[in-house]
Amino acid sequence: MRKRVGIIGVGYVGLVTGTCLAEVGHDVYGIDSNTEKIEMLKRGEVPIYEPGLNELIKKNMAEGRLSFGTDTAECVKRADIIFICVNTPPKENSQADLRYVELAARNIAQALDGYKIIVDKSTVPVHTGEKVTETIKRTNKEHLDFDVVSNPEFLREGSAIEDAMHPDRIVIGVTSERAAEAMRELYEPFDAPIIVTDIKSAEIIKHACNSFLAMKISFINSVAAICELAGANIDEVVQGMSLDARIGGQFLRAGIGYGGSCFPKDVAAFIHISKELGYEFDLLKAVQHINTEQRQRFVKKIEETLWVVGGKTIGVLGLAFKPDTDDMRNAPSIDIIRALHKEGAHVRAYDPAAMPNAKTLLEDVEVTFCADAYEAADGADALVIVTEWNEFKQLDLERVRTLLAQPIIIDGRNVFDPARMEEIGFIYKSVGRASTAGPHR
Ligand code: NAD
Ligand code: UGA
Repeated sequence: MRKRVGIIGVGYVGLVTGTCLAEVGHDVYGIDSNTEKIEMLKRGEVPIYEPGLNELIKKNMAEGRLSFGTDTAECVKRADIIFICVNTPPKENSQADLRYVELAARNIAQALDGYKIIVDKSTVPVHTGEKVTETIKRTNKEHLDFDVVSNPEFLREGSAIEDAMHPDRIVIGVTSERAAEAMRELYEPFDAPIIVTDIKSAEIIKHACNSFLAMKISFINSVAAICELAGANIDEVVQGMSLDARIGGQFLRAGIGYGGSCFPKDVAAFIHISKELGYEFDLLKAVQHINTEQRQRFVKKIEETLWVVGGKTIGVLGLAFKPDTDDMRNAPSIDIIRALHKEGAHVRAYDPAAMPNAKTLLEDVEVTFCADAYEAADGADALVIVTEWNEFKQLDLERVRTLLAQPIIIDGRNVFDPARMEEIGFIYKSVGRASTAGPHR
């Protein structure tokens, strides 16, 4: 059944959610307090890099199901289901900063003109639904009826459209059957299992999922460290682990640790809210610690290989926190480049999409931004791979070797096969792959 949907905050999540809801036939009106973003969208430009999003927005705008503005009251008037998709950044003490959620709730409450469903899609600590409910009740003087729903989002940047159009599951935390029914109807076209819970459980599901995935990454990075020390190979270890259906193969890619706008902040926020509730989440503290160390271990690997980093030129391939995005929030590349720069290295960097954002974040660091991977390699004493963009996998490695001053590649994402790299003549270091020739070969 066609619904009227409002989206408050058209960032990564709001824009993708709104567009996908329009794509399945709903009427969507998205607003943002950032007027520049809205002007861009109205002109048909997309403020973020996300594969497939541009085309889908254009299509749904042209077909009249998707439009944008800046006024919350207008959004509330035009919608029966209003999604809060605002940012929930970390405070200095790691607690989630909920000021934007609170403001959105107040703005919605002031504009209520009848029964509405207010859906929190932002990632928030448990008990936020209750606070949103209290805030709306307090602010709306006419005491109009409404329901608050928690509907956490599980999309990944870089594959956001695919994830949002074909989710593994849809979680809906509710306090009323009326809201549950409306949400089931809204998501009916998506053909995904719908899990209906209470609001607090839905909020915890989101923190638990991101923390669990972060834990898998830190776990495998620890195992990779053991592989290096023992002379084993992480690829073979993962292969042996992942065929156990209870373990599975996803999120076991060893590397330089997780970054991005979500895992670091959500693990920290889950630790914080757990402590507030009276539980010390020591397991997650270890996950954080291992992740921080992983970036330092990578820099140490570069130092050990080059002996002296000061005065050397280092090519850096990849800046975004993961491929297929221009998102630089909490990207490992920032810490790595800063550490190399502090040691006196000259950094030549290239990323297919994230360079404009990286330039702003690294304003105070001298970095030469290059037109492509070959330019970054040209004359460098070592090339380091920080983000595993597909175009790096297809590099002409012979050309790279001749461009480099020394044929050294230090790969933080295990993009290449060590045996092949050695054959081509590289000194090649990667993560957790001390042995390239096991006894069976
Ligand atoms: P974002 O910063 O890209 O977008 C948030 C948008 O909200 C911004 O455009 C901002 O201007 C706008 N905004 C803030 N307050 C507003 C207000 N009162 N009224 C109108 N607009 C307002 O953030 P994001 O990455 O989309 O994340 C949003 C939430 O979703 C966060 O809680 C995040 O943890 C969660 N989340 C993000 C992802 C992801 O991949 N980025 C995935 C799942 C969940
Ligand atoms: C992550 C989750 O995967 C989404 O389900 C969730 O909705 C989102 O956070 C969120 O809450 O915002 P995202 O951060 O976009 O999505 O990207 P991921 O693919 O999860 O990668 C996160 C980080 O982990 C990246 O730095 C990536 O390089 C790293 N990673 C991932 C590894 O180091 N190893 C892996 O095996 C997988």
